[in-house]
Amino acid sequence: MIYATGDTHGTFERFREAYFPEQATMTKDDYVIICGDFGGVWDGGKQENKRLDWLEQLPFTVLFVSGNHENFDLLAEYPAEDWNGGKVQRIRPHVIHLLRSQVFQLQGHSFFTMGGGRSHDIEDGILSPFSEDFWEQYLYYRSIGARFRVNHRSWWKEEMPSSGEYQEADKILEQSGWAVDYIITHAAPNHIVDLLSGGAYGYDPLTNFLEDVRQKAKFHYWLFGHYHDNRIFEEKYVLLWEQIVKVV
Ligand SMILES: [Fe+2]
Repeated sequence: MIYATGDTHGTFERFREAYFPEQATMTKDDYVIICGDFGGVWDGGKQENKRLDWLEQLPFTVLFVSGNHENFDLLAEYPAEDWNGGKVQRIRPHVIHLLRSQVFQLQGHSFFTMGGGRSHDIEDGILSPFSEDFWEQYLYYRSIGARFRVNHRSWWKEEMPSSGEYQEADKILEQSGWAVDYIITHAAPNHIVDLLSGGAYGYDPLTNFLEDVRQKAKFHYWLFGHYHDNRIFEEKYVLLWEQIVKVV
């Protein structure tokens, strides 16, 4: 069994048995994939470790792609390893980060993964915690209700894929003959961004890239998160938030 869900942001209530009773028949060979904004590796603190231990003791394996709300400095400390045809980082033995630009073979189906996304609520800027007037600026921004983030505290440039990751993705899709069973991302391709926002959300290099993939690749379903809603577009594009849906 493979299920998928949307952004968890470090809160995993939805996986409690009361909300997800299907887990009664699942084993560690079954998966629940979080479509980005996992948020479970955020401050490295005691509570966070407890939450990760709680995920580890669930009857199934938790997989996630990155979103934009991840602590990419902390994530980078985990070594990468090969797993089911692609590269992963193991946060716990059964809590696994599916890296970008990979194709995994899971239960006889192929999954292309491309995490990342552009933060929307940062139009007033990114503050550097190392600048001399950081506190002055920070308190002023807070006082006027500015929409901003702090570099390496609440925003990381790695929220967007690097040029190397785009190249790798092209390469792996080329090797797969531009055909996979499922696509797992955090962000959506341009066409879907238009549909879900009525033209209100802009494009960025990642949504452009995903649009290219959308036009070239053959796939059954494309599952993504980021936009905090549960909706299906054109039968095969599945936007997930707190719902957990069966994929396989
Ligand atoms: Fe999110």
